[in-house]
Amino acid sequence: MTTLIVHPATQPLAGSVPVPSDKSIGHRALLFGALCHGDSHIAGFSHGEDNVSTATCLRAMGVVIEEPAPDELVVTGVGLDGLKAPTRDLDCGNSGTTMRLLCGALAAQRFRATLVGDETLSRRPMMRVVGPLRARGAVIEGRPHPARPGDVLAPLVVGPLPSGRSLTPLEHDSPVASAQVKSALLLSGLYAAGVTRLREPTVSRDHTERMLSALGVPVRTIGSLVELDPAGWDRRMPAFDVTIPGDISAAAFLLTAAQIVDGSRVTARGVGNNPTRTGILEIARDMGAGLAVESHGERSGEPVADIHAWSATMCAIAIGGETVPRAIDEIPIACALAARARGTTRIRDAEELRHKESDRIATMAAVLRAFGVSATEHPDGLDVEGRDGPLDPADVDSKGDHRIAMTATVLALVARGPTRVRDAACIATSYPKFVATLRALGAQIDVEA
Ligand code: S3P
Repeated sequence: MTTLIVHPATQPLAGSVPVPSDKSIGHRALLFGALCHGDSHIAGFSHGEDNVSTATCLRAMGVVIEEPAPDELVVTGVGLDGLKAPTRDLDCGNSGTTMRLLCGALAAQRFRATLVGDETLSRRPMMRVVGPLRARGAVIEGRPHPARPGDVLAPLVVGPLPSGRSLTPLEHDSPVASAQVKSALLLSGLYAAGVTRLREPTVSRDHTERMLSALGVPVRTIGSLVELDPAGWDRRMPAFDVTIPGDISAAAFLLTAAQIVDGSRVTARGVGNNPTRTGILEIARDMGAGLAVESHGERSGEPVADIHAWSATMCAIAIGGETVPRAIDEIPIACALAARARGTTRIRDAEELRHKESDRIATMAAVLRAFGVSATEHPDGLDVEGRDGPLDPADVDSKGDHRIAMTATVLALVARGPTRVRDAACIATSYPKFVATLRALGAQIDVEA
């Protein structure tokens, strides 16, 4: 089991670096590429394990995905009705997005497929997609959740949709702002006999809507309402070329490291700057962080920017409301900012964090305390008391959660002595070059196998 030994920074972090391509957009490019007609070209694919899981599952259903050059993929689309019955279980690994989005596409197939995941993914709630998909006629079985009656867990056995039956129209008020739920329902909506209408409490990331619209699918959004009305649509999506922007969720770790290591100045280049993802930039700015966004317009329908960060004095803030879904994966690293901000940062409306790769409210509170930072858990968030001076060197367990491992690594840069981050191999699910990039910026990190 990989352990990182992170040494306190002895010099400012400095440099201008790329970040891995956006994981969310990567999943969608693969999936929609598979359901298109013709060869789609994906540039800037970064091989995080989660994206690779999506590619592996699609290959198992007969989709040809080739890699003519490093980080470039060609997906030969089979059209909406061209997926083949897999001869083995579809292994989604650690990737909730793979499992939930595939569930949407598989709900309409005339074959049966079983979606499995690793130990962590097998603990995550699935009724949020299974429920509305069943409501439109999908046949899906899961394992009953031992602690939450009515919820189900993976493995999920999806299909077959009985011959002669189609998925029905659907009106769904989602209790959670979740792009995975939204995307699963829109994917199933591509096959449905009628309108798919979904309302979420606040807007979650909108990469699916952007990509589907670009492919001529009749998707409309009004605030947090999304509607797909297939009437008059020919059910054919053309192949496309996409260059995937850098992942703001990965950039956030480097930008925060620059914020908290005195004298640092770091640029993350070519980062996706979609407003449904930029909550972390607003949080950091509100705290007084040194941050500048240099916009480079749109690339493949997604805004892109270079983001410059430098260390600054920060003050505690309140984080909640609609910012949370737009920063849902960045709340752990926002806790690292809070740990160095003057005063107590209060994070609320973030109950969803309890259902991520780990219970991120509990794991972050434990990580912060291990560094000597006072943290109080709440059902839907936590209070973090900022601390001056070096943190305590810590020995922390990521609980198999990549974002917890990376947050602990960043915090360790301002500790009094070396920190051990255990169970760190999970970082490769989203950011295989994380350690190499931090080293390139000046950090000292040893890796123990
Ligand atoms: C994702 C949506 C979010 C996010 C996850 C990726 C996506 O999950 O946390 O890392 O690509 O759709 P939820 O939809 O569960 O909020």
